[in-house]
Amino acid sequence: MHVDQAILTRRSVRAFLPKPVPSETVARIIETAARAPSGTNIQPWKVYACTGAVRDAIAEETCRAFLTGEPPRDNELDAYPSEIAEHFKARRRKVGWDLYSLMGVAKGDREGSRRQHVRNFEFFGAPVALFTFMDRRLQYGSWLDCGMFIQSLMLAARAHGLDTCPQAAWRDFHRIVRRHLEVPDDEIMVCGMSLGFADDTAKVNTLRTEREPLDVYAKLTGWE
Ligand SMILES: Cc1cc2nc3c(=O)[nH]c(=O)nc-3n(C[C@H](O)[C@H](O)[C@H](O)COP(=O)(O)O)c2cc1C
Repeated sequence: MHVDQAILTRRSVRAFLPKPVPSETVARIIETAARAPSGTNIQPWKVYACTGAVRDAIAEETCRAFLTGEPPRDNELDAYPSEIAEHFKARRRKVGWDLYSLMGVAKGDREGSRRQHVRNFEFFGAPVALFTFMDRRLQYGSWLDCGMFIQSLMLAARAHGLDTCPQAAWRDFHRIVRRHLEVPDDEIMVCGMSLGFADDTAKVNTLRTEREPLDVYAKLTGWE
C-alpha cells in the first residue's frame, strides 16, 4: 500500500468484526511501527498487546467500573487544560455531535452517550487490544516519540487490511490494565488502541471527520 493511501484510509473505527488477528501479524505491525523516529533513538515506547481471555477480562472489569463508578476513574495526567480556545471547542463539539447523531444519540441524552462511551471499554468489538506505555520519568520529547510510534502502528495496520481506534479513554482505567498485563508502576499509559477488521456494515463506521483547509494550519513562505 502506498503511504498516502495508508494515511488517507486510516480512520477511527468504532465497530469491528470478531475475526481474530494472528499473533504474527500483530508482532509484525508493532515491529514496523518501532521504525518510528525518536529523539536520540531512545525508543521510549512499551507496547502491551492482548487478545482472547486476557482482553475479555480487561473489558469486562473496565465496563463494570465505568458503569458503576467503582473504582472511580483515575487519570494520572490531564490530556487537555480545563479551558481551551473556542475554535478547538468547536471542532471537538462537531465531531462529538456527528458521531452521536450517527448513533441516534440526541443532544443532552446522557444515558445514550454513556452507552456509546462504554463501547470504548469493549474495544468496540475488536479482538486485539494494544496499550502503549512509557517510562514516567521521561518528558515531552518522549510523548512526541510515542505519538509518532502510535501513528505508525495505525498505518502499519492499514497495510495488513486492519483498522484501529486510538483511545485515550483507557487512561482513566490504567490501574485495571496495569494489573492484568503486569505493567510496572514506573510506566505511564500513553494511549489504548483497538485493532481488528472493520465492520463495514456498521453505521458508526461511516463517520468521516473533517479537516480545516490548508491555509488555516499551514503557512508556506518563499515560493514565487
Ligand atoms: C490521542 C488520541 C486519543 C483518542 N481517544 C479516543 C477515545 O478514547 N475514544 C474514541 O472513540 N476515539 C478516540 N480518538 C479518536 C479521535 O476522536 C479521532 O482521531 C478524531 O475524531 C479524528 O477522526 P479520525 O481518526 O477518524 O480521522 C482519539 C484520537 C487520538 C489521536
